[in-house]
Amino acid sequence: MEHTVYVTRPLPQPAIDLLKSECDVDMNPDDTAVAQPELVQKVKGKDGILCLLTDTIDEQVIEAADRAKVFANFAVGFDNVNVDAATSRGILVTNTPGVLTDTTAELAWALVFTAARRTAEADRFTREGRFVGWSPTLFLGQDITGKTLGVVGAGRIGTAFAEKSRGFQMKILYHDVEPNAAFEKRTGGTYVSLETLLEQSDVISLHVPLTPTTLHLIGEDELAKMKSTTILVNTSRGPVLDEQALAEALKTGQIAGAGLDVYEEEPKIYPALLTLDNVVLAPHIGSASVETRTKMAVMAAENLLAALRGEIPQNLVNPDALPKRR
Ligand code: GLV
Repeated sequence: MEHTVYVTRPLPQPAIDLLKSECDVDMNPDDTAVAQPELVQKVKGKDGILCLLTDTIDEQVIEAADRAKVFANFAVGFDNVNVDAATSRGILVTNTPGVLTDTTAELAWALVFTAARRTAEADRFTREGRFVGWSPTLFLGQDITGKTLGVVGAGRIGTAFAEKSRGFQMKILYHDVEPNAAFEKRTGGTYVSLETLLEQSDVISLHVPLTPTTLHLIGEDELAKMKSTTILVNTSRGPVLDEQALAEALKTGQIAGAGLDVYEEEPKIYPALLTLDNVVLAPHIGSASVETRTKMAVMAAENLLAALRGEIPQNLVNPDALPKRR
C-alpha cells in the first residue's frame, strides 16, 4: 500500500479494519503506552500516526516523524501533543470531539452522586461485613435536588453536563472566559464570575481544556471560597486542579467531597488522596463506554485517512498547518 501508519496501542477492531483498507498498519500489540524512545523510533518513516492521550507527542517525536502528514489523537483533549511544533512542520493534528460528550457528562454525574451519597465508601463498608443494621446516622451525605450547580467551562461537555441536571431542578451557574449564549439557551444557566460560582455552588464540575491559563485554575484560594457542603468533580484534565490543595481541603472539611477521573501526573495519584474516604477516584474513564470508544477510534481513523488522501480532516485542530502541509 502507498501509506504506512503507526497505531500506538490496540484499538477497537472497526478502526483497525478501516485503516487496513487503505494503509499498512504497524500497531503496538501491548495495551500499555509505548516508551518514549520506542515512540521516537516507531514514528520514523510513517505517513500517519494514530496516538493516544497517554503518548507524549513532544518536539522530539514530531521531529522524528520525518514523513508524517498527521497525528490523529484518540481523545478530545490534545494537550499531550505539541501542536505548535506540528503546525510549524505542516503536520496536521486531529482530535475526537462530540462523540464522547454525553458519555463524559454521564461519568461526571456518576462521580457527583458517588461523592454526594458516599456510595463507594458505603460499598467498601458493606463488603467488609460492617453493615449490622439500619441506622439513622449511617452514611449521611448531601442532597442534590434543588441545589445550585456550578459548571466551569461551557463547552460541549459542560453544556451536556448542565442539561442533564434538568430532573434535579437545580439553579445553574456557569463560568467561562466569556458568556456563552448557546449554553444559556440550552440550560437556563446564568453567567457569573469564578468567585461567585465557587461561593454559591453546592456541586461544582470542571469542564475546561488544559491550557497555560487553566493550569491550577482551582487551588487553595479557590477551594477556600467553597462551602463546607460542596461536592467538587473533575473529569477534564488533572492539572486544572491542585491535588495537594484538594487533599488538604478534603482533610480539613473545607469541602464535603470530591470525585476525580483525572490526575496531575497520571497514573500517579497524590498519596494523601488515597487515604481519604471523602474522595472517589476513577482511573480516567470519562469516555469509557463500549459504543463511545468505538466511535472515537473510527473517528480518529477517518481523520487520519482524510489527511493522507490530502483532504481536510473533519476534526482538524491546527488549520494553520494546511498551507504548509506535507
Ligand atoms: C479523554 O480524556 C479525552 O480527552 O478524550
